[in-house]
Amino acid sequence: MTRRLEGRTALVTGGSRGIGRAIALELAIAGARVGISYVSNATAADATVAELEAAGGEARAFACDVGEGEAVEGLVKGFLDWTGGRIDILVNNAGITRDGLLMRMSDADWDAVLDTNLKGTFLVTRAVSRSMIKQRFGRIINVSSVVGLMGNAGQANYAASKAGLIGFTKSLAKELGSRNILVNAVAPGFIRSEMTDGLGDDLKRKYLEQLPVGRFGEPQEVAALVVFLAAEGTYITGQVINVDGGILT
Ligand SMILES: NC(=O)c1ccc[n+]([C@@H]2O[C@H](COP(=O)([O-])OP(=O)(O)OC[C@H]3O[C@@H](n4cnc5c(N)ncnc54)[C@H](O)[C@@H]3O)[C@@H](O)[C@H]2O)c1
Repeated sequence: MTRRLEGRTALVTGGSRGIGRAIALELAIAGARVGISYVSNATAADATVAELEAAGGEARAFACDVGEGEAVEGLVKGFLDWTGGRIDILVNNAGITRDGLLMRMSDADWDAVLDTNLKGTFLVTRAVSRSMIKQRFGRIINVSSVVGLMGNAGQANYAASKAGLIGFTKSLAKELGSRNILVNAVAPGFIRSEMTDGLGDDLKRKYLEQLPVGRFGEPQEVAALVVFLAAEGTYITGQVINVDGGILT
């Protein structure tokens, strides 16, 4: 059970910290060879690689802004050179927020969020799809958000990007299922990470009051679901699975 991804290769975008780091670590513990991409913080990425190796995995970091087409081509080429041409698991985790009310939301804030969260996922997925189709195996897991399902005032750009990921996921599930490529989305609720650390205490208290389980989630709790989908979810595709402590019930 523990090394259930032995022999598999996995790419986790934005894998140097937060939820992506936890996913990379759990994949490595399960036996996968894991590549992580990062934007600019090479030190953090190197530290994560060292952590994955200490857990008994083989790992490598690749610099790449997922919103940039050429950079994504370079990322996937570098990854495939490293693995000998195989990519079994893709986790589209890279994501940002640029919150603001609609009237004050700038074009730049809209574009930055859509480019990273939605276009980035499209670019990386398209770039790996050729290999997955050729090898007739693939597991693609897109990190959406409950905000993409329920909306959130002040996050119209983020919610639109995360809802877009759900349509993308369902379309690809239909397009790629016959090639044994399964495509799912996970929708985390409020998970403790650098993305959420910066939110004000009032907002955190408001979220906590609505949470049936009475606590925020940990990155590892999202990672456990991702590894399940990658390793055990052999007949699950086109789904959005919430890992949200019951906030959306
Ligand atoms: N923390 C939460 O409560 C929560 C809830 C729902 C969904 N999510 C989603 O989970 C994912 C991870 O979030 P997190 O909480 O770990 O946040 P985080 O800010 O700690 O991590 C985001 C990661 O994405 C990377 N990234 C950002 N822009 C990038 C770009 N252009 N190219 C490549 N990588 C880029 C960052 O370097 C970082 O490693 C995001 O997609 C986020 O939207 C988080």
